[in-house]
Amino acid sequence: MPHLLDIAHLTVRQANTILERAFFFKKERIFPNFSGNRLANLFYENSTRTRVSFEIAAQNLSIPTVNLDLASSSEQKGELIADTLQTLMAMEINLFVIRHAQNGLLATLAEVVNGRGHLINAGEGTHAHPSQALLDIMTIIEKKGSLSSLKVAIVGDIAHSRVANSLQCLFALLGVGELRLVAPPSLQPNTIHFGYLTASLEEGITDVDVLICLRVQRERFMANETLNWEDYHQRYGITKERLGWAKSDVMLMHPGPVNRGIEIESELVDCEQSSILQQVNNGVYVRMAIIESLLR
Ligand code: CP
Repeated sequence: MPHLLDIAHLTVRQANTILERAFFFKKERIFPNFSGNRLANLFYENSTRTRVSFEIAAQNLSIPTVNLDLASSSEQKGELIADTLQTLMAMEINLFVIRHAQNGLLATLAEVVNGRGHLINAGEGTHAHPSQALLDIMTIIEKKGSLSSLKVAIVGDIAHSRVANSLQCLFALLGVGELRLVAPPSLQPNTIHFGYLTASLEEGITDVDVLICLRVQRERFMANETLNWEDYHQRYGITKERLGWAKSDVMLMHPGPVNRGIEIESELVDCEQSSILQQVNNGVYVRMAIIESLLR
């Protein structure tokens, strides 16, 4: 596996190896030494979880990391991303963790790297966020054992969500019992990779084992797109009462960052069923396993 560009490029075996190794790292705390490699974090969009967990994952694997400060990099003087990559490769950096708003950018950059390094998609436009999907599935398997009999709902801004895209592909690849996609008509996607789409929150979350809420991604709205936030919370926000429609042992998940009081009632973020911080914790181990898969 030269790069991690999206879930669609993964085989079942590659996905399962990443998950198995992530569980191994978490349980055994035996971390291989990959010194001799160097990793650069290039985040052209804001991030807390993904950037920091890739940095910690690299540290755990004895890989020195550079966090490029893009606000003060030479791209501000007109340098192209492709030339930035060439420059960093000349300094013997061979792992590039990239977040960018442009769909398809990483596939183009893979041609620039051309066998001299590895690219990891840390969130690309509305297209894909593969490491997030892998850590979400790890968290579900950790709590529920296996995917095959589970009913899962993804609720929210599916139209703009790279997480929803990658999750659909990974649930399809690994075989989940049932996947429901719940969104108001204005936030429904043009393309569905896998699952059943509904605008009814009650229909979508009744009896589910896992409820994954998505952030409304206002930064990706086109000029003609608007949303009444209060109305959204009234109709699609997860409240204590609505959580009761799901199974009593439902897992409540969210990739973060959470807008408390919009997609989820604030106190539910910290409730017993919430797995949000477990997702963050698992992110470090999944990202270690991704880096290992690229280097082995
Ligand atoms: N889930 C996620 O990608 O979070 P960050 O934007 O904080 O990295």
